[in-house]
Amino acid sequence: MDIEEVLELADHLIFTKTGKHLDHLQQAILRGTIQNCTYSEIAEDHYASESHVKWVGSELWKMISEELGETVKKSNFRAIFEKGKIYKNKISSAIVGETVTVHHINICSESERAKAQQQKQSHLNDPEITPNQPYIDLNDAPKITKFYDRTQELSTLEKWIIEDGVQLITLLGLSGIGKTTLSLHLIDEIKTNFDYIIYRSLGFAPTLDETLTNLLEIFGNPDKIEIPLKLETKLSQLFNYLRQYRCLLILDDIQMLFFEGQLAGHYQSGYENYQLFYKKIAEVCHQSCVILNSWEKPREIEKIEFENLPVRTLILGSLGLAAQNIFRDKNLSNPETWDILINTYQGNPLWLGMIATLIQELFNSRVTEFLYYDEPILCDSLQEQLKLHFQRLSPQEKTVITVLSHSSEIMNLQSLATQTKLSNSELLNTIQSLIRRFLVVREEQDNVTFFIVNPLLKEYVKKI
Ligand SMILES: Nc1ncnc2c1ncn2[C@@H]1O[C@H](COP(=O)(O)OP(=O)(O)OP(=O)(O)O)[C@@H](O)[C@H]1O
Ligand SMILES: [Mg+2]
Repeated sequence: MDIEEVLELADHLIFTKTGKHLDHLQQAILRGTIQNCTYSEIAEDHYASESHVKWVGSELWKMISEELGETVKKSNFRAIFEKGKIYKNKISSAIVGETVTVHHINICSESERAKAQQQKQSHLNDPEITPNQPYIDLNDAPKITKFYDRTQELSTLEKWIIEDGVQLITLLGLSGIGKTTLSLHLIDEIKTNFDYIIYRSLGFAPTLDETLTNLLEIFGNPDKIEIPLKLETKLSQLFNYLRQYRCLLILDDIQMLFFEGQLAGHYQSGYENYQLFYKKIAEVCHQSCVILNSWEKPREIEKIEFENLPVRTLILGSLGLAAQNIFRDKNLSNPETWDILINTYQGNPLWLGMIATLIQELFNSRVTEFLYYDEPILCDSLQEQLKLHFQRLSPQEKTVITVLSHSSEIMNLQSLATQTKLSNSELLNTIQSLIRRFLVVREEQDNVTFFIVNPLLKEYVKKI
């Protein structure tokens, strides 16, 4: 059974009945049904609630049944559509003013498509009738299986986006702290406010030109995609869409656009024009929001924030007590000691998960036995994570981190200057960059500022 062909047939039925094409969720339900997935599995894949998916499903079956004059349900959809040819003929007879052949089922004429597109646009532009089913394209987004707490962060983001009309948000934090998970979960909470929701990882460092092309393909007419050649035209076309539709655009793994081995937030050559893109997102008037997830804050964002534009930054920290659920899921013992683990591993869900696995495998889930060791234990996978951060540092940053890690005393600027032999300005820039990477924090004691290195990175550096 050719899924795409069945989807096209079903799309045609729905279009004939409603003048609208299948939306993203309806397509997912049909796909899932053909692949024998349950509503709950479809809901999970689609970040929607099961009850909502069931409701959309039942409306869909009703419309298809009415068009075909035969009861169609989730349980018999496959069987009915397997008799494809019969239904292609039935469908063709249902089309007014169109000639359809059995083997050519691209039935919608250009004029009809244009009409549908117009209908869709006027529909979406009218706030009264904005459909609560946005077009969601999560492409390469990871699947969220568990999600704990982050209530405060979610309500902050929701307020910024929905109430305050913030156009550009930077979500920052160390690897594994939960930026991707949070931003994907946010979709579920606010999706009814949007026409388009798009997630893209920039992990493989696409150029701005490639990213824009990729985004424009989503908005364009799939049968007639005309992507302009010039970058400026692409940019202005994208901004037309951001004005015309309410879009939530999540761009993940932004740090991959930056240089390794230099201070934080410097774009690699060929990627500098992303600065202009982000700046325009903040400056230009539109009704959309872009979220950037990153380990490092892009430098231009600070300047934009300074200009009082609709821009905000959220730094994601510890998952807090909710991280206990991670241990519960792993069936760890000694719950009275779990807080120690959460503190030691900084409430980082990824790191806590790795340590929980180690405790399961080596200590038969007994946390007290694991805590017998004085220093924080870095399992191999956690070392790999810390290495990723360490490798990105500039030579001066590595020097400062190494000095801080090997010192038994906490250090201030003076002691760091003596030991690192960096010039004052070099040292200040280096420390500022390390703070921007969340690898060093400031601590005030008796009116003196001290700099503290992340304790787990310290353990890592001591061992290399
Ligand atoms: N709120 C949460 N509840 C449960 N698990 C979570 C939560 N947040 C994150 N996790 C888990 O922690 C792991 C890391 O999360 P995630 O990938 O979102 O981190 P990240 O900050 O995007 O990391 P990176 O910067 O490396 O991409 C994932 O396995 C995810 O399932
Ligand atoms: Mg991520």
